[in-house]
Amino acid sequence: EEAELGGFPHYMLKEIHEQPGRVADELRRVLRSEEGTVEFDSLAPHLDELASMRRFILVACGTSWHAALAGEYLIENLAGLPVEVECASEMRYRQRPFEEGTLVIAISQSGETADTLAATRLARQQKVRTLALVNVVGSTLAREADWTLYMRAGPEIGVASTKAFTMQLLQLTLLALWLGRRRGTLSRSEGRRIARALKAIPSRMQRILAAESRIVRLAKKYYRFTDFLYMGRQYNFPIALEGALKLKEISYIHAEGYPSAEMKHGPIALISPEFPSVFVIPRDALYEKNLSNLEEIKARNGPIIAIATAGDREIRKKVDDVIYIPPTLDCLQPLLTVLPLQLFAYHVALLRGCDVDKPRNLAKSVTVE
Ligand code: G6P
Repeated sequence: EEAELGGFPHYMLKEIHEQPGRVADELRRVLRSEEGTVEFDSLAPHLDELASMRRFILVACGTSWHAALAGEYLIENLAGLPVEVECASEMRYRQRPFEEGTLVIAISQSGETADTLAATRLARQQKVRTLALVNVVGSTLAREADWTLYMRAGPEIGVASTKAFTMQLLQLTLLALWLGRRRGTLSRSEGRRIARALKAIPSRMQRILAAESRIVRLAKKYYRFTDFLYMGRQYNFPIALEGALKLKEISYIHAEGYPSAEMKHGPIALISPEFPSVFVIPRDALYEKNLSNLEEIKARNGPIIAIATAGDREIRKKVDDVIYIPPTLDCLQPLLTVLPLQLFAYHVALLRGCDVDKPRNLAKSVTVE
């Protein structure tokens, strides 16, 4: 086991630190920077059919469901195609009519999650095409779906998913880029711009991980709180959900994720000096709007940790603590913003004496209903 941990105290930390390398390898393998597009070797025989799809249903559970939510923004914005996201446990019991030209994309690290398998089988019974986005090679989902795209995260041992989530995000970004280029919603120069920004992601991830000591200090300041609210907008709304999930999974602290503007419809009633918020607020299209949501929290004396873009000095005056991340395109933000949230959850859990790799009551994959 020690050898496998490669000097890290836990698998979760090791897997967090593997992310830049995994992303870099995959980009080297599939990104065609000159053309501003992607080469999907495993889907090669099906590319024409894939390009003809008119709508997508992304179905998953847990962390994979959060990746699906990010995929919705990516495919809609880059490829201009409608996307719906379904919780597998709900979809499997719905009487859902499937329109022609629909592709169901089932997302699962293990490829064995019972609900995701059942939802995929339901789609297949209705003669709908299915694509498995999975990590474990040869898993049931990979075998049963019509087409398979591997995440290439490598084995993930920590129960709380980290690098698989990032690779799900990456694959969905690449798929959206490919669709956008193929359908012409993205020009060659727009594709190249995204490809260039993608290539810069691994070194930017490294920079975030290199500032881990800052996150350790924040964890020491905040680990005794019993409730947290995580907020973000657009691409970072799913990241808020994922940040909250990481914290509750491994530290057993109550945490909720919300779209920033939605907090005024409920969660704001909870805000007090005892109830901190984590705002994912990079410089993006909705920065100003997000900022006004943040100010409403501050006006109720809620402590705030902001995940903000390096160089944003203004934000420092409005919040209690800031974790800076390097700039990137809006659509690539999730690949960076999730990292500090993973590290924050990890260090809070350590300080609380929790077993981060094997949290109570949770399983790596839920193979029964
Ligand atoms: C379990 C794991 C989560 C995971 C979820 C879905 O709850 O603890 O980390 O996100 O299952 O798993 P899957 O293998 O389908 O991605």
